[in-house]
Amino acid sequence: MRIDRFLANLKYGTRSEIKDMINQGRITLGQRPIDDPGMLIDPDNDSVEVDGIPVFYRKWIYLMLNKPAGFLSAKSDDRHPTVTGLLREPFSRFDLDLCGRLDLDTEGLLILTNDGEYLHQIISPKKDVLKRYEVRLAHPLGDYSLLERGVRLLDGKDRPYMAKPAQIVPTGPDGCIIAIGEGKYHEVKRMFEAIGNQVVFLKRIAIGGLTLDPALPPGAYKELTFSEAQTVFR
Ligand code: URA
Repeated sequence: MRIDRFLANLKYGTRSEIKDMINQGRITLGQRPIDDPGMLIDPDNDSVEVDGIPVFYRKWIYLMLNKPAGFLSAKSDDRHPTVTGLLREPFSRFDLDLCGRLDLDTEGLLILTNDGEYLHQIISPKKDVLKRYEVRLAHPLGDYSLLERGVRLLDGKDRPYMAKPAQIVPTGPDGCIIAIGEGKYHEVKRMFEAIGNQVVFLKRIAIGGLTLDPALPPGAYKELTFSEAQTVFR
């Protein structure tokens, strides 16, 4: 890959700004100044430095993030802070997408990646990856058997559909863990509304076999290895 393109992809500047940086001797390869913006480098093996600081590079990035309430599952927004705004160097330099969204007031596990194939597999209804949520309700849990059989709900465009059966494990008089394969608009909230209840706290604690690391406070994130990221499918 051309060095100017490599650095522009990582948001070090536009191609012409990077050319200026090269002319100023600020870009080095193994500590030796580069003089050609078109120079070809091997991003996986070459060590590029900007102002003497090594450039962090990975082809594929997988991040586990603990979304705090009040942050939008989006890349940018005029009104609310977004989850990608929580990212710091070096991960803020990568163009990462969200593997599924959580509501503004929902907390918990989000995966961010630049691996489009991986993202597609997680959100694909065909893969049926189970998402597990911790739920607290406004009223006692009561009879939830309808949710375990499959309940009729409205989707984001108010079209009716049959929600797939959910797995529910009570955790107290007004709380439970619910596992669902789908991720339709406000799915968990709508499920409990359908049985006359209301979700007052919602936190995603697992996507497939990947569980939110309890050591990650809200707003924190950590990089996953490729094989850790794959535990979603186990
Ligand atoms: N179901 C919801 O209702 N909200 C979420 O954020 C996720 C699942």
